[in-house]
Amino acid sequence: MLRQSWLAWYMRFWGCLGEGDEGVRWYVMGDDDSIFFVDNWVDILGKYDHTKYVYIGGQSEFIMSNFWFSFDQGFGGAGFALSYPLVAAMVKDLEGCLRRYPYLNSADLITKYCVDELGVPFSSERGIHQIDLRGDISGFLSSHPQSPLLSLHHFDMVEPIFPSMDRFQSTNHLMKAAKIDQSRMLQQTICYQKQTNWSFSISWGYSAHIYEKVLPRSVLKRPLETFGPWLKAKPPLYMFNTRWPPFVDPCEAPHVFFFESIDSSRGNNQIVTTYVRSSPRGLPACSSSGNHSADYISRVRVFSPMTKHLEIERSECCDIVKVSTKNITEIKFRACKDDEIIA
Ligand SMILES: *[C@@H]1O[C@H](CO)[C@@H](O)[C@H](O)[C@H]1NC(C)=O
Ligand SMILES: *[C@@H]1O[C@H](CO)[C@@H](O)[C@H](O)[C@H]1NC(C)=O
Ligand SMILES: *[C@@H]1O[C@H](CO)[C@@H](O)[C@H](O)[C@H]1NC(C)=O
Repeated sequence: MLRQSWLAWYMRFWGCLGEGDEGVRWYVMGDDDSIFFVDNWVDILGKYDHTKYVYIGGQSEFIMSNFWFSFDQGFGGAGFALSYPLVAAMVKDLEGCLRRYPYLNSADLITKYCVDELGVPFSSERGIHQIDLRGDISGFLSSHPQSPLLSLHHFDMVEPIFPSMDRFQSTNHLMKAAKIDQSRMLQQTICYQKQTNWSFSISWGYSAHIYEKVLPRSVLKRPLETFGPWLKAKPPLYMFNTRWPPFVDPCEAPHVFFFESIDSSRGNNQIVTTYVRSSPRGLPACSSSGNHSADYISRVRVFSPMTKHLEIERSECCDIVKVSTKNITEIKFRACKDDEIIA
């Protein structure tokens, strides 16, 4: 019964497409509890040839979801894209395809089966997020893969992503930054303050972390495991490496700041984002920083150029400019030099 009504819906959904849609290049399908970063979708889809058969989506973060469904499917909630010619080819015998797999009961998996029948491979984009995670996903969002942010699903299943805001407020808050520079959203930029041996990791538009130790990029790129898996399972749980949140080690535990405000009206071709300390860290200083505690830093302010991040092949570099009288660390983003090693 359930499958019958679902099939009817699926037929209506794709069946109505492909005709009378002149000029359409892509169809993107996703759930209504997802946030879509539309400018970034336009940029990413622009890298693919919409006149060919193209199927783009995102894997789940949770290994077992991919295992149970498929490692080669675009998860439907997070959103996937099909080029116009691929949809036009699929709808020619959509009912036949549905009938060939009567045992499938999810729209995203059956789409993958029908796409497979046409011999079209799956292209995975790392900015499409199913968020098959639970709890506090701030660690995940603070070490985003180096790829444009496209979607965040399951926003009603995880904790609000900003402290002392509800989900709705958090979403609107995140979109303040996204409206001004979507290309940099959550892109991670790392730099070091030599005098104190501090590491800075900025997830643009979301968070800033200060560590009182020089931690290599390869370490900082691994998300702090602040979150839990979608369902109980044995490790390994995630499709990426993580770090355990080091709550007690003053050399490994970050000072955490969250996005507060954005200003693009100051001119100089610059955007200014400010990140405010969420709570005192409550730990002594790390001795490898010569006992230079970052406790007094109240905010981190980031100056980034208006250039689109997509046009930069590598991550950006940054310099610590100064600490202002109000204990705000000012950081300037810039393009990395040709052979610059960020360490
Ligand atoms: C920074 O770390 C290096 C190497 O561990 C150490 O030699 C130096 O003294 C440290 N600097 C400070 C200010 O502690
Ligand atoms: C940091 O402080 C600890 C404890 O007060 C002390 O033992 C250590 O020598 C200090 N380290 C540096 C580099 O000043
Ligand atoms: C900056 O930090 C220092 C050291 O903790 C503190 O004494 C001072 O009041 C702070 N300044 C401001 C403006 O918060």
